[in-house]
Amino acid sequence: MARRESGAPPAVEIDFSGDGSTAVLVDALVLAVPAGDAAWEGPLADVDAALGGALKTALNDGGFKGTVGSTSVIPTLGKIPAKRVVVTGLPATGASADDVRRAYGAAASAAKNAGATSVACPPPGGGLSAGAAYRAAVEGALLALYDFTTYKSTDNGKPGISSWTVLAEVTDEERQGVATGYAMAAGVYLARDLVSEPGNTLYPETFAAIARDVAKENEFEYQEFDEKQLAEMGAGAIVAVGQGSTHPPRMMHLTYTPRGESKGTIAFVGKGITFDTGGMSLKTTDGIVTMKTDMAGGAAVLGAMRALAGLDLPYTVHGIIAAAENMPSDTAFRPGDVLTALNGKTIEIISTDAEGRLVLADALVYAARQGAEEMIDLATLTGAKVVAIGAESVAVFSNDDDMAKAVVAAGTEAGELFWQMPLWDALKKQISSPIADMKNSGGRGGGSITAALLLSEFAEGKKWTHLDIAGAATSDTASGYRVKGPTGVGVRALINYLEAKAG
Ligand code: BES
Ligand code: MN
Ligand code: ZN
Repeated sequence: MARRESGAPPAVEIDFSGDGSTAVLVDALVLAVPAGDAAWEGPLADVDAALGGALKTALNDGGFKGTVGSTSVIPTLGKIPAKRVVVTGLPATGASADDVRRAYGAAASAAKNAGATSVACPPPGGGLSAGAAYRAAVEGALLALYDFTTYKSTDNGKPGISSWTVLAEVTDEERQGVATGYAMAAGVYLARDLVSEPGNTLYPETFAAIARDVAKENEFEYQEFDEKQLAEMGAGAIVAVGQGSTHPPRMMHLTYTPRGESKGTIAFVGKGITFDTGGMSLKTTDGIVTMKTDMAGGAAVLGAMRALAGLDLPYTVHGIIAAAENMPSDTAFRPGDVLTALNGKTIEIISTDAEGRLVLADALVYAARQGAEEMIDLATLTGAKVVAIGAESVAVFSNDDDMAKAVVAAGTEAGELFWQMPLWDALKKQISSPIADMKNSGGRGGGSITAALLLSEFAEGKKWTHLDIAGAATSDTASGYRVKGPTGVGVRALINYLEAKAG
């Protein structure tokens, strides 16, 4: 994938070639191979025969077990037109969508690492319905091929994959599956790019400029509020969080209106702290180092909006992002300050490092006022969530159990580790304040729960679900379709949620 610019969609051309033959001149031929001694048929048998049984021998001697996510690259020594075969483990039937994503993701990475620019494969295996298999394979392959090279002045000598040919005649359902997979990947790419961008290039104004472009390109309605408008509106929490920085805060609001009749209105709300120093309650050197990623919730919202543009879902969707830079300075807000949020509720500041819940308080009230029946917020909210259930997980809190269950199902379907957590009323006393309606930190015990409890004060009677994605926005390791770096967590889950609702 040659030098994709930050913010651009995947640059892989996906096409179809009708006669089903695997005798194609490409750098890599990807073949899905089941575990065990299943009888080989079709393309697998054809290629093995053309290579004089070398495929089977290489696999057996190489110890390839066919487990999902494992691959093996086999040179073809001129016996078939493809330069090499990339085998990827996948059961012939009974695979889940995530198995298919991981298998094609791993294959795409292996082909790219081998230096391939052109790839071909037979129709995706696994036994899903044809549309679903195509969608999962495209999602997996494109997500695995993600990279962020904006700030590299030299490339790594590997040009990347620019074409992928499916060796089949394609039906409408399959074509639709490919388009959906591509739209999902485009949304995740945007979210990952935003998380990759450093704090010196991505701050509230530049984040808002990108949101404005996304809205314009996709014909979404767009509104933006600067620090003066936010103050006039009464959004005293986001204004306070942003007041210590020379980069003032912004609230962005994109609206997707379906082509046909709308079945309901939902809001996606994202924490967009473009850099979290902790403010006057300054973080440690170790604690601060990854904090350019503290806008991953907002990135997921914008990514989901971009994905929506390529789909056809019957809901009115508001995408709202509360962006601020949390800095210490002589104009910064302080511990002890009392803020008034958009719904008039007051918050005593214990720690200026508990800033995400503050910007979200205003954003949730604003979202509720847009007529949303349901709201889902995403935020890198608490270190306590990482301690409780791990970095890769997504903690799900909701004031509506059925909604929580549907959100967990949507996240699980996306292959993400969504887990419902309790929103215990009994813990509310931890955030009671002697001088205000609440305080912004509940102390160490149950820290992700008390953060969620504060947010629940701003749900304005709507069905609301909060996703704490702290730690999940980046990954230390690559596997399947995950790359080392940004994950784009939440984007596909949000879309899956709408799809499941639409039935
Ligand atoms: N952005 C952080 C949470 C975070 C921590 C995200 C680690 C990703 C990785 C958030 O603004 C924060 O600082 N939370 C505090 C809250 C505390 C002061 C009540 C925390 O978790 O320590
Ligand atoms: Mn913080
Ligand atoms: Zn933060």
